[in-house]
Order: sequence, then structure tokens, then C-alpha cells
Amino acid sequence: MSKKITIAIDGYSSTGKSTVAKQLAQKLNYIYVDTGAMYRAVTLYALQHGFIAEGKVVRDKLITALSNIQLDFQHEEDKPVAQIYLNGRNVEGLIRSLEVSGFVSEVAAISEVRKKLVEQQQKMGNGKGIVMDGRDIGTVVFPDAELKIFMTASAEERATRRFKELQEKGDSATYEEVLHNVQHRDHIDTTRKDSPLRKAEGAIEIDNSALTLSGQFNTIYQLAMDRIVGR
Ligand code: DC
Repeated sequence: MSKKITIAIDGYSSTGKSTVAKQLAQKLNYIYVDTGAMYRAVTLYALQHGFIAEGKVVRDKLITALSNIQLDFQHEEDKPVAQIYLNGRNVEGLIRSLEVSGFVSEVAAISEVRKKLVEQQQKMGNGKGIVMDGRDIGTVVFPDAELKIFMTASAEERATRRFKELQEKGDSATYEEVLHNVQHRDHIDTTRKDSPLRKAEGAIEIDNSALTLSGQFNTIYQLAMDRIVGR
């Protein structure tokens, strides 16, 4: 008999977590939640309200304002994946900017921010089929998830992928800059005090340095099906 399960996909930046998580949710007809988008939306709010000044996050002001921040995911007719809304406004197109990327790790290291977002994420997954990707899903948000995946790839491989994407967008960043950025984010994500990125207990590690997208998808899909049909 098939059942609805919770699938947690964690890993380093630019490992392709969200690509595989989205494909999996579509194939299984599950809810997909990109938790990175939530941390990015809080960072956007901080930028819009002047809580980031002189290159630093003004923690106290952001913490005090947290109760004014409302995040939702909503489906739009022409979009296959739910869009993130910040206080009623679709901000999907604003949260991937370089400016937001530059501060999001610092915002995500604030415990009060994490507490608020983790509570919301846990409510979203309650009893439904869900695929959630992030850094702490298998360790903190859903430690009892039926399937936990930890995605890795060498920093050089991830930087090469990211560099190609940026080149396609016409960005002039060099490979060395991109590699440095990848290594810098790895450092912040793995060394922060609250919920550092690490492989959760029971997680299956997938190093996709040498895997094709379809090879990786098939591996994870098979693991999910094994749990869904209880093989
Ligand atoms: O997945 P992403 O690159 O969009 O994530 C943006 C940032 O948010 C990244 O620096 C790590 C942080 N993050 C986190 O701390 N916990 C999560 N569950 C998801 C993202």
C-alpha cells in the first residue's frame, strides 16, 4: 500500500538540490518547499527596511521586526512550482539577486530567524507528502523524515556549474570569484552555531560530481519509491 512520506534534501550550495527536489515533487504529486527562498525573503525584507547598513545586518532591528514578516507559498496558473510571497507580494523574482545572496548566510545564522521559519516549515509538512530542500531539514525540521538525502559535490565542480549559469546570464564574474564564493558560503553554512549544515543521522549521501541530472534523479526517485510502497 502506498503512503505519503516526507523527503528531506539537504546539502551544500549549488549541488542541484532544488532541481532534483522540484522534479521529485512533480513526479510524486507532492508539495515542494524551497526553504532557502524563505531565508532569502527575510533578507529581502531586511534590505527593504534598512536593517542592513554599512554592509552589516542590524540584528536587533530585524529580530524586533520578525513578527511583521509573513511568508506564504502560492501557486500561480502558469508556473509549475509555488511562488514565495512576502507580506502578500510575489517576491520570487527579487530574492536571487547578488545583493540578497550576499547577506542571506548572515541572516540565516540568526537563531530567532531560524526559529520562526522552522516552525512554519514544520506546519507545512504536517502529514502531507512533501519534498523540502535546505540545510537543516533532516537534522532539525524533520528529523523523522522517511527519506533523507545529503547532496555533495566538489567545490570545483559546483563552482564550474555556477560559473556556466552566470556566464549564460551574461554575468562577468570569473571562475576564481565563483569558487571563492562557493567556499565562503560552505564555511558559513557549516560553522554557524545554530543548526550548522551536516549530514543528518540516517541520511543517504549522494556525491553527484560525476552523475548526470537524470542519473541522480533516478537514484533518488527509486529510494523514494522503495519507502512509499514499503518495499
Ligand atoms: O539554498 P539557498 O542557496 O537558496 O539558501 C540560501 C541561504 O539560506 C544559504 O546561505 C543557507 C541558508 N539556508 C539555511 O540556513 N537553512 C535552510 N534550511 C535553507 C537555507
